[in-house]
Amino acid sequence: MKGVILAGGTGSRLYPLTKVTNKHLLPVYDKPMIYYPLHTLIDAGLNDIMIVSGRGHAGHFLELLGSGSEFDVHLTYEIQEEAGGIAQALGLAEDFTDDDNVAVILGDNVFQDNVHDAVQSFESGSRIFLKDVPDASRFGVAEIKGNHIVSIEEKPTEPRSNYAVTGLYLYDNDVFDIIRTLKPSGRGELEITDVNNEYIRQGAMSYSVLEGFWSDAGTFESLLRAGMMVARYRKNKMMI
Ligand code: DAU
Repeated sequence: MKGVILAGGTGSRLYPLTKVTNKHLLPVYDKPMIYYPLHTLIDAGLNDIMIVSGRGHAGHFLELLGSGSEFDVHLTYEIQEEAGGIAQALGLAEDFTDDDNVAVILGDNVFQDNVHDAVQSFESGSRIFLKDVPDASRFGVAEIKGNHIVSIEEKPTEPRSNYAVTGLYLYDNDVFDIIRTLKPSGRGELEITDVNNEYIRQGAMSYSVLEGFWSDAGTFESLLRAGMMVARYRKNKMMI
């Protein structure tokens, strides 16, 4: 299984913090944001990881993380020229994955759970990770019937559950064929939710529900919350 961290996009919701600095390099408590998704992949047992970033700050990621040797992993870098969406950014990793399965994580997501077992036992189709949240309409939201996800809606005004789709996705290599079929959404992006709905349509989607803390860090409120939670859990040695 290969790992991919998506760190492109414009970070417009954090302006002016992101006027000269990339969102994923901003501090979440005492570490740059991207350390958290990187450690989630490393703790899952992955050691071959690609970082996809926008053109402007690619050199900064290289300076910060280098070859990956300090983390005992091998890092590869790829440029997303325009912020064409999460699925478009993932599409750039096709050659890197070399027909292998792939664990994709968003560069602004902070997870407390260790997902090692789910990642290591993954074989085919797709698996996503849900979190019960109070503000589901900010996210992709899963509708669940029985034990199955029947659909995912992107930022619904009236969510059909409290289960947010977090920014960690496991896919088999068919994901790249699916991405090729996507059309841009209303916001002009290739949506990861459209990829996930295609796996659901094929009956090939499974899921886990996270128990620990999870947050994105892409708005002022969530960036602050993520920092506060990391600080609190760090005291108990429960987070990196
Ligand atoms: O945080 C989880 C949520 O992330 C999911 O619940 C949603 O279903 C999913 O669409 C996404 O929602 P956001 O609207 O919050 O995503 P955002 O545009 O903020 O992008 C999140 C990360 O994805 C960003 O930190 C870097 C990466 N990204 C995003 C875009 C648009 C790229 O690498 N390239 C891109 O073009």
